[in-house]
Amino acid sequence: MNQPETLATLQASVKAPAYVKNIRLLAWVREMAALTQPADIHWCDGSADEYDRLCAGLVKAGTFKKLNEAKRPNSFLACSDPSDVARVEDRTFICCEKKENAGPTNNWMAPAEMRATLNPLFKGAMAGRTMYVVPFSMGPLGSPIAHIGVELSDSAYVAVNMKIMTRMGKGAIDVLGESGEFVPCVHTVGAPLAAGQADVAWPCNKTKYIVHFPETREIWSYGSGYGGNALLGKKCFALRIASNMGLRDGWLAEHMLILGVTNPQGKKYHVAAAFPSACGKTNFAMLIPPKGFEGWKVTTIGDDIAWIKPGKDGRLYAINPEAGYFGVAPGTNKSSNANCMASLNRDVIFTNVALTDDGDVWWEGMTKEAPAHLIDWQGKDWTPEIAKQTGAKAAHPNARFTVAATNNPALDSEWDNPAGVAIDAFIFGGRRSTTVPLVTEARDWVEGVYMAATMGSETTAAAAGQQGIVRRDPFAMLPFAGYNMAEYFGHWLKLGERLAASGAKLPKIFTVNWFRKDADGKFVWPGFGDNMRVMAWMLERVEGRGQGEEHVFGITPRYSDIHWHGLDFSEAQYQSVTSIDHSAWAEEMKLHEDLFEQLAHNLPPELPATKAKIQARLQA
Ligand code: GTP
Ligand code: SPV
Ligand code: MN
Repeated sequence: MNQPETLATLQASVKAPAYVKNIRLLAWVREMAALTQPADIHWCDGSADEYDRLCAGLVKAGTFKKLNEAKRPNSFLACSDPSDVARVEDRTFICCEKKENAGPTNNWMAPAEMRATLNPLFKGAMAGRTMYVVPFSMGPLGSPIAHIGVELSDSAYVAVNMKIMTRMGKGAIDVLGESGEFVPCVHTVGAPLAAGQADVAWPCNKTKYIVHFPETREIWSYGSGYGGNALLGKKCFALRIASNMGLRDGWLAEHMLILGVTNPQGKKYHVAAAFPSACGKTNFAMLIPPKGFEGWKVTTIGDDIAWIKPGKDGRLYAINPEAGYFGVAPGTNKSSNANCMASLNRDVIFTNVALTDDGDVWWEGMTKEAPAHLIDWQGKDWTPEIAKQTGAKAAHPNARFTVAATNNPALDSEWDNPAGVAIDAFIFGGRRSTTVPLVTEARDWVEGVYMAATMGSETTAAAAGQQGIVRRDPFAMLPFAGYNMAEYFGHWLKLGERLAASGAKLPKIFTVNWFRKDADGKFVWPGFGDNMRVMAWMLERVEGRGQGEEHVFGITPRYSDIHWHGLDFSEAQYQSVTSIDHSAWAEEMKLHEDLFEQLAHNLPPELPATKAKIQARLQA
């Protein structure tokens, strides 16, 4: 007769510590270990001691180089395989039962077919490696808005990055208790080791699958060790799975930074802003007000992801589910982002930046003059001369730093308040060298949703594939919406309707573009700290004071409506970043039309109706 299995035997079968009492978790780990056949299992407790030991192991394995302790205490450099440097959007799948629920902008495969594809790949995939059990909380531990995930990964690099990026370890297990729910996330680099086989510094596989099963809330990731492909709490959970949770339960999971901005009178506002990958979220979230804005203060709540829920008062409350920043290194320097540079003084994991001769790091744009000699991200000698001849970059354009939010000197005091902060304005911004003006205010919620839905942006190094190509990136969520994009637009519209019906004042919606270029290909707008000038105008509009001029698709400030003190920026320059070329916009509207054709099924009628109005004004 079969004896019911005791907790102790179940724990022992997966080397779980006694504090792990969640039967579903233990049983799942056992099932995954049976499938992937790791040589060992390590339950991460999230302690500092564990972090140090794992980092030391990564140094020994050659994955990490320890940086000069005097210059960059407790910091490491990892250089990835040259084939594994960014998110792989064409290998990312939403596997729900019905294809139409994934929508035309997502790759789809039927769940059963995907499982049949993944099973043979995962079989024995962790052989010769340790399976790290990484429990984590997205959002403050135990908070009612947080959700727990557990990532099983055969990468110690993933485990230490998850320690910085999330509330990771025993605390998350304690929240789970005996019967708590978690999102199971299984990750393998897809590089099993035969007995005696030597490892490489960055194991990965040419074949890659980043797979989401929204109906059963599972994530399966195969073949990559990099960023959003492998740190499964981030884009996979906090956006693709969470957007499905939000659709069902009436909230939003967005690719947005969250910041606080306090004016000289001491009044504080909160802004959430969605820009596509590598289009300025981290920088905007850490903005230092420029000359002429003495007495203003900007503080960071989050730099990449926002979970936004309606409160009882009808306002929208946003939290940052993450605990760290996985930010773009190139372009970051003391004048563009001093807060970020200060955050990176210690306790950092750098990935794919260059190594200096004195054991520190460098990347393009960090200093005006490049060092005379570096080891580039691929381990090769690099000098300014070599760069001139070959175009070789010292750091990969998608090189990143991983650092705890608590390292940020501009961290907002409310950053981990489980209640979140009330949002006063939403900003949507793309990277457009032409056509799109510096800033536009939507006249109402529907017009704002239209502008966000039809946003275009030039592709960046954050995703594998061609760069600099304008594509529609609705709400900066094209790669991250875990369900049908047309339904996502409807979700935003319905939320607005619901809040308006409750008598609430909706946040204002703006679009921005910091990236217009002149004939020489140079950015015209100074950007970075000077983006404060645009933000101040937006807040004046929120207060009902600021002035602007109505045009075909919204309201834009005139030259005289912006505070220029401390910046030499001529009216002609301003014209060149705010002008609206009607023939270019007629072309742009065709791209909106293409998007709406692609998303025709379920497209909310308000959107084509708004488009028709804009087109009528363009032709008038
Ligand atoms: P993800 O982490 O990929 O989501 O990116 P992000 O949106 O946080 O972008 P980030 O702030 O890291 O900026 C990406 C690149 O754009 C960096 O090289 C920045 O230096 C550059 N950048 C950011 N803000 C501005 C700006 O206002 N003007 C210009 N010209 N460049 C900017
Ligand atoms: C992005 O690509 O938007 C990122 C980096 O924030 S990753 O974590 O790789 O998704
Ligand atoms: Mn991002």
